[in-house]
Amino acid sequence: MDKILVHGGHKLNGTVRISGSKNSALPILAATLLTREKCVIRGVPDLSDIHYMLTILSHLGCDVERASGVASIKAETIRTEAPYDLVRKMRASVCVLGPLLGREHEANVSLPGGCVIGDRPIDLHLRGFEALGAAVRVQGGNVRLFAPTLRGNSVNMRGTHGTTVLGTDNVMMAAVLAPGVTEIHDAAEEPEVVDLANFLIAMGAKIEGAGTRHIVIEGVKELHGTDYTVIPDRIEAGTMLVAGAIAGERLTVSRVRADHLGAVIEPLRAAGFHLETQDSTITISPNGSIKPLHLETSPYPGFPTDMQAQMCALLVRAPGVSVITDHVFPQRFMHVAELSRMGAQIKLQHPTAIITGNGHLSGAPVMASDLRASAALLLAGLAAEGVTEINRVYHIDRGYEQIDEKLNAVGAKIERVKA
Ligand code: EPZ
Repeated sequence: MDKILVHGGHKLNGTVRISGSKNSALPILAATLLTREKCVIRGVPDLSDIHYMLTILSHLGCDVERASGVASIKAETIRTEAPYDLVRKMRASVCVLGPLLGREHEANVSLPGGCVIGDRPIDLHLRGFEALGAAVRVQGGNVRLFAPTLRGNSVNMRGTHGTTVLGTDNVMMAAVLAPGVTEIHDAAEEPEVVDLANFLIAMGAKIEGAGTRHIVIEGVKELHGTDYTVIPDRIEAGTMLVAGAIAGERLTVSRVRADHLGAVIEPLRAAGFHLETQDSTITISPNGSIKPLHLETSPYPGFPTDMQAQMCALLVRAPGVSVITDHVFPQRFMHVAELSRMGAQIKLQHPTAIITGNGHLSGAPVMASDLRASAALLLAGLAAEGVTEINRVYHIDRGYEQIDEKLNAVGAKIERVKA
């Protein structure tokens, strides 16, 4: 198992190229189950989560070819059962349920286990499948779906913490082959949901309203293969912008969709940074001292929960009191104890972190607990005095393609060593 050593105090200058979106590629890869024809997906990042999804698709009977940045999948004949051993590695495996139900009218998939970022039920997904006519049974740790016939219907995706991203994706994928019209109300509006809808439309689906709270799907008889490129990863881009805020002189992220990052750009400007945006690049540079912020996460287009930890790492450096509340995953603060080991002053009153910024961090051995928490620790290490040693870096490799190499190329000093 590797660990990462971050040598603090090195300034970042230059351009970081952003990879394809993990949270787009995962449901799009699952959606290839909806056709017997070959699909070619481009811009697929080289991440362990992608590897897990491709392993599940192979297990389900797909022919899978992988080349740098490209995955070709042909789901000619498939089975509908996905075991615990495969599903437990990655929650997003749950998004094979919709395509299996949509195509085969049945599915038998292990329930994803617990998650350190908080409670993550799939009741809204199951509510959607039932509305389309499926019988749902949870037994022996598996979700079993069965529908002699599927029929379009009206579904509401609102839950206790707002809408659901993968729930919206799953219902959309189950509905594209269901005769009649499906209306999804309170749908998630994330760019990744729009990207999945565009992929399904490229396969021949009839979908309107993706990117709004009201999506309308008219079922079609069958879908065909296609060649599709996923959108850039807005969370990787946001993470790199925060790296530029913490340790940059002039850092540019390229191959981004600036229009997907409004909710990240705005608080960075409010914190006192200069940001220049163009179609596919964003450049960040300091603009006076860092200011404290009050931030609240919410579903898109609100401030993303997947950027909450990284912003904590930045606001530790802002003199004064910052307040961050996570309404989407109220328990998602595993990074706080580790940042405190580096000298941060953060008080937790779930779902809020109260940060008394002192601008000073010192390197220490810390433990990664989940994907975005591990990114926050790496970012904090860039500005800390001395060396920060991050253990369990497999968390970071789940969602960031070559993050250490990309940052070293713009001036950071990060080593990957055997633990
Ligand atoms: C997606 O997860 C992302 N994962 C997450 O990113 C992201 O944090 C999350 O959306 C929110 O933006 C992928 O796209 C693979 P949700 P998802 O269903 O769809 C509750 C990362 O770091 N809920 O939108 O699983 C749930 O508990 C990952 O890349 C229900 O109550 O999240 C949460 O509080 C982490 N019932 C809220 O809704 C349900 O049936 C939002 O969760 C489903 C969800």
